[in-house]
This record gives sequence, structure tokens and C-alpha cells, in this order.
Amino acid sequence: MNFYEEQDNRIKHIEAIIKSYLPKEEGPQKRVFEAMNYSILAGGKRLRPMLMLETFRLFEGRDERLVEPFMAAIEMIHTYSLVHDDLPAMDDDEYRRGRKTTHVVFGEAMGILAGDGLLNYAFETVTASLTRLSGEDLIRGAKALCILSEKAGIYGMIGGQVIDMEGFGLKLEQDTDFDALGNGMGLTKSQNSHKNIQERLNYMYKLKTGALMEASMMIGAVLAGAGEADICTLEGIASDIGLAFQVQDDILDVTSTTEIIGKPVHSDEKNHKITYVGLLGIERAREEVVSLSAKGISALESLNKSNDFLKVLIRKLISREK
Ligand code: IPE
Ligand code: IPE
Ligand code: MG
Ligand code: MG
Ligand code: MG
Repeated sequence: MNFYEEQDNRIKHIEAIIKSYLPKEEGPQKRVFEAMNYSILAGGKRLRPMLMLETFRLFEGRDERLVEPFMAAIEMIHTYSLVHDDLPAMDDDEYRRGRKTTHVVFGEAMGILAGDGLLNYAFETVTASLTRLSGEDLIRGAKALCILSEKAGIYGMIGGQVIDMEGFGLKLEQDTDFDALGNGMGLTKSQNSHKNIQERLNYMYKLKTGALMEASMMIGAVLAGAGEADICTLEGIASDIGLAFQVQDDILDVTSTTEIIGKPVHSDEKNHKITYVGLLGIERAREEVVSLSAKGISALESLNKSNDFLKVLIRKLISREK
């Protein structure tokens, strides 16, 4: 198997599915459709729909038409989270997926509305698909919808972004005084160690990035008919993968170039964000990525199911360059 060829084929397949669910650029509100399509069709790794489909296949799901609207929906939600993440009020970034960000091209109001539009359209897409189901498929679809809405919301991705904006918007210098930092964050002395700050970062990362990965893998499994215990195991696997993914994102923010990652580098420094790299240094951050991924892969193996592509995909994320 040539992994990269297989990955490219899958990306093409996923993009065709996403496109088939996007709104037509017509009517009086055409501008928002253009802005939505601009951001979602700009490319990207399509990792979340890929994890969803491969997990569906891992559990020998039969009819892929069941999972397709959810694949489109998770990418719409992920894309909206990026459009809003880049807004001036949040990370204030001007490049995404190798293009000017949505608010730069369409204006801030349309950036906000395109994000809102993508979020809502994700649920329009999924709920419309549920009306065509019955019996066991409908029950699984309803359960998947429940997971999607929770993981995208205040107990999931949005919650993580809230903590990112509020709790960690503090400056971290080379010689950060962690006592002073803890006071600023309202922490007591015992709560205020490197270790504790790392735990708080983990919590934020598991929400802002892990939650949509969890939704992806859990939904793939639920729709394929996996049992509760396996779904719970998958939630843990996806959470570790999501955390590793965000730590690698922090690393790339300082080691990569805009040409490679398609978005600005040093965005975290510009916004005075505390990151894994700031807290532990690049080498220890790298070690975390490796050990979290290994943990995820060994839990995946414990399921006694096989999907070689999925396993290699997760392994490759450790050394991803974009
Ligand atoms: C970017 O996600 C935001 C993070 C959670 C780090 P991706 O790195 O998956 O972005 P795309 O979809 O490939 O553009
Ligand atoms: C954002 O994390 C994760 C989201 C939920 C959007 P970052 O702010 O680090 O993502 P990038 O680096 O802009 O893609
Ligand atoms: Mg951000
Ligand atoms: Mg950002
Ligand atoms: Mg980042």
C-alpha cells in the first residue's frame, strides 16, 4: 500500500461528498453561500471526515450513505471553527489553508455569518438525512446527532475555545515566573506548578481540538453499530490523538513556514498564548506527541479489529508537517 496515494484518493472521495452537500451560490443571500464555500473548498487535510469514515469501516459498517452526511457535517463544523478562530476578535489571522481568511476577503460581518451558516447547515444536512431513515439506522443516526451536537458545543469544542480565549491569554516568556502566573490565573500555590499548568492545557486541548476528533470516531462507530464499550474506548483514543494533534500544531506554529502549513506561523506568540512548546520546549513537546500517539494506537489494537490505513494514518500524524 502506498499510504500517500491512498490518502489522496480518500481526500478526493471526501471532497466529492462534501461538495454534494454544499448550498448553491444563488438567491439574495448568495454572498454568504460564496463565503461558506470559499472556506470549506479551500482544501485542508479532511482529517475529521477521514477518521469518521475509516472508523465506520473498522466496525464493518455496510451502507456508507449513512455516514456521508455526517462526514460533510463534521467538516462544516470544523471549517466554521477555523473561520471564527481567525476573526480579529479571536486569533486575528489572515491566512488559512493557503488563502486569505474568509473575513479578510468577505469582511468581518460575512466572516461571522459564514461561520454561523456552516454550523447551522451542518445540522440541516444531518437532520434532513435522518428523516429518510427508519428502524435501527434511525436510532443510530439520532445517537450520532446527539454526539455531534455535544462535542461541537460548550462541553466540547466551543468550551475549549472559551478557555483558550480567557484562561490562557497570558504572556509566557522564556523566564516565566510560574508563581506570578498562577496568581494571575487565580491559582493557589499548590495548583500552580508546571505540572498543573500542563494539566490545564491538556483539558483545554482535549476540548478545543480533541472533541471534534472524538465526535468523528465515535459517530463512525455508532453508525456502524459498534457496542457501548468500544465506543467508549474510541472516545479515549480520539481524545489522545486530538491532544497529540494540537501539541504538533503548537510545534508547527514555531518550526514551520506559512507556505507549508498554509496559515501564519508564530500566531501563538503574537497572541501571547501559553502552548506546549512554551511550557515544555520543543523536544519535550515532541516526546508528548509520540507517547500520546503510541497510547492511541495500542488502544486501537486492543479492539481487535483491523484497518491498516487508519493505523498508519494515526502513526503518520506524529511526523506531519502540515
Ligand atoms: C486546524 O485543524 C485547527 C486545529 C485543531 C489545530 P487542521 O490542522 O485539521 O486544519 P485543516 O482542516 O487541515 O485546514
Ligand atoms: C484552534 O487552535 C482550534 C480550533 C478549535 C479552531 P489554534 O488556534 O491553534 O488553530 P490554528 O493554529 O489557528 O489552526
Ligand atoms: Mg485559536
Ligand atoms: Mg488560531
Ligand atoms: Mg495553532
